[in-house]
Amino acid sequence: MSTNITFHAGSVSAEERPTLLSQKGVTIWFTGLSASGKSTIACALEQHLLHLHKFTYRLDGDNIRFGLNKDLGFDEKSRNENIRRIGEVSKLFADACCITLTAFISPYRADRAVARELHEKAGLAFVEVFVDAPLSVVEQRDPKGLYKKARAGEIKDFTGISAPYEAPESPEIHIKTDECDVTEAVRRITAYLSEKSFI
Ligand SMILES: Nc1ncnc2c1ncn2[C@@H]1O[C@H](COP(=O)(O)OP(=O)(O)OP(=O)(O)O)[C@@H](O)[C@H]1O
Ligand SMILES: [Mg+2]
Repeated sequence: MSTNITFHAGSVSAEERPTLLSQKGVTIWFTGLSASGKSTIACALEQHLLHLHKFTYRLDGDNIRFGLNKDLGFDEKSRNENIRRIGEVSKLFADACCITLTAFISPYRADRAVARELHEKAGLAFVEVFVDAPLSVVEQRDPKGLYKKARAGEIKDFTGISAPYEAPESPEIHIKTDECDVTEAVRRITAYLSEKSFI
């Protein structure tokens, strides 16, 4: 870490920015197995919020790995670093008063805790959404054919098959996508955001 650096104070206070922009920032952190429905729900939610004219942006796993995180693999250390960077980036977006949606498997509880802590230390809200479906269901869905490849041993460190997934213990929102459709999931998350005065 560099030592000759000094944090530059903001142009407006942390309280002033949301008032000036008429919007509070928040990070909605989706976590769950591959094919559980994180991207599907985050996309539908993003669309819904944009149509309400809310400043909203989605940071999505594969997309980020094409750019910012293209130097990272899927071993445990790389996954830690992947989520550390996303935690930092989502914090910046939330600080800019954006409703920030992150859709990453983020399999490790400790990594998600670091992202939450980063936000909370900065006075920013962090909403963890557990997108939950049994392995048998996601394996049946397999929209990218990844489970098939993982079972055949063609992909190593695959979450749920050859790498762990640590389910959240107390997520703000728990969506079982084998029981609840996308529309209902969006309705539940927007109800939460509305109750907490984010929208
Ligand atoms: N209730 C539901 N909610 C979300 N997706 C569902 C639901 N029911 C079925 N699906 C289907 O499950 C699949 C979920 O794929 P999606 O890409 O959203 O998963 P993901 O969690 O983002 O996976 P990855 O971690 O690989 O990016 C899609 O094909 C979607 O149509
Ligand atoms: Mg996805």
